[in-house]
Amino acid sequence: MRPRRALLYVPGNDLKKINKAAGLDVDGVILDLEDGVAANRKDEARAVIFDALKNVDFGRSERLVRINPFYTQRAEHDLAAVLPGKPDAIVIPKANSAGIIKETDRLITAAESAMGFAPGSIGIIALIESGTAFINLAAICAASPRLQGLILGAEDLCADTGITRTSAAYELLFARSALVMHAAAFGLQAIDIVQTNFTNTELLQAECQTGSELGFTGKQIIHPAQVEITQAAFTPSAEAIEKAQKIMEGAQIAQADGMGAYSLDGEMVDLPVVKRAETIVARAKAAGLIT
Ligand code: COA
Ligand code: MG
Repeated sequence: MRPRRALLYVPGNDLKKINKAAGLDVDGVILDLEDGVAANRKDEARAVIFDALKNVDFGRSERLVRINPFYTQRAEHDLAAVLPGKPDAIVIPKANSAGIIKETDRLITAAESAMGFAPGSIGIIALIESGTAFINLAAICAASPRLQGLILGAEDLCADTGITRTSAAYELLFARSALVMHAAAFGLQAIDIVQTNFTNTELLQAECQTGSELGFTGKQIIHPAQVEITQAAFTPSAEAIEKAQKIMEGAQIAQADGMGAYSLDGEMVDLPVVKRAETIVARAKAAGLIT
């Protein structure tokens, strides 16, 4: 799976913003049909997105589409309109049950076959944004081999549960950690909350750092000004990479000497520390920082 350090939402009916997003060095662009698009612009947005998938060059960025939730009766039409454009993945909002993932999988499978696309080439990412989704989370994670990641939808989760949203986001700690645990257990990416203030870089920086420390692999963003800071925050620093490489080299020598644990600069290194170091090196490689 390619890294998704930053996923940028773009309203699906706004071709100007779509073109702008296509020119950015961002890991992924989410062409939105759901809440970023007014009800009377949904049909237009489907056509604009299909056209963009066909004709706009997104460079190295992945092309994702967020459909409308199934209960709106729009999801099937959204999929029928955009799947022929061969997006890299479909983002399902209000992914509250395994059944929703399975139904989406079924529709994608049919479209792949009808269009002659390689089976399994279009992925699924699930937006986890209700109490019900958290109760069902393990079943959701196991529902389809297409599932590549989980996204935490903080605003909708708060609307659903009565949680009061604060700028510190302490009220989301359980949800953020529960999502990370499930993602880890099922080998999925974990994508963190949106920072809606796109002018305050300190706020964004701090939220990225917390998200990274909590174990998220990336973050949703809503404005071009958030791309660079977010991608940098979810990329290991030069210092962290160097330390990780040192840990791995030391571990090899220690193992050869028959030692499971060894000391490095006054700290114990054992297998979990080595595993963490391996994750950092793998992320650095994925980001093209080392070979
Ligand atoms: N994707 C691509 N381009 C974007 C963008 C986005 N998400 N947000 C802003 N831009 C562009 C603007 O078009 C503008 O381009 P220009 O300089 O060529 O004219 C430039 O970036 C600067 O934008 P700015 O004037 O600061 O913001 P705005 O008032 O145009 O837009 C928002 C502010 C919040 C409406 C816009 O960022 C947005 O639509 N974000 C996504 C919203 C969304 O999808 N929400 C649902 C998911 S949470
Ligand atoms: Mg939402």
